[in-house]
Amino acid sequence: MRNRLIAVVSVVALVLVAFLAGRHYWGMIAGEEKVAAAIGGPFTLVDTQGRTVTDADFRGQFMLVYFGYTFCPDVCPTSLSTVAAAFDILGDKAEAITPIFITVDPERDTREALTDYAAAFHPRMVGLTGSAEQVQAAARAYRVFFAKVQEKGADPDDYLMDHSAYVYLMDRDGKYLTHFPHGIAPEEMARQLAELL
Ligand code: NI
Repeated sequence: MRNRLIAVVSVVALVLVAFLAGRHYWGMIAGEEKVAAAIGGPFTLVDTQGRTVTDADFRGQFMLVYFGYTFCPDVCPTSLSTVAAAFDILGDKAEAITPIFITVDPERDTREALTDYAAAFHPRMVGLTGSAEQVQAAARAYRVFFAKVQEKGADPDDYLMDHSAYVYLMDRDGKYLTHFPHGIAPEEMARQLAELL
């Protein structure tokens, strides 16, 4: 009788543990999928030639997307140099990826400034701008935060843009694959890119 009771209690305990572990596991997976599905999506912007460009124009190519601005004192130049260095390491393999720089400062970043800036980092880097609404919508799709930071009494053109500094890798269908944090070593970025291409 006593043995039977112990057996029943053990089975109940085992089922309960399995249930809780399973719920935790599936909850984690569902959460991750949700985050992945939420990054990226359709955008409509303007290239440095003044042409309307959408995410659909890059199908068939991996996109490496970064949001920033040409007046950025150090974060953007560091991130974009890292991308360029990772591309050098990847060599021919990098040709499957289109690097895209989207300005969060369309007010000051003229098409000319964007052209020169993007080209300074990589000859194939695409600079994109757009109306304030278009840029805002693209940033929202990528869950990128940005905000103007201006000192009191400063000249209207004298300000910084606070912004997220992740580099996003999207696959040939425009779907999110991964992102790279600011400060990642070019070797590490290249290693991860080579694995995902
Ligand atoms: Ni920046």
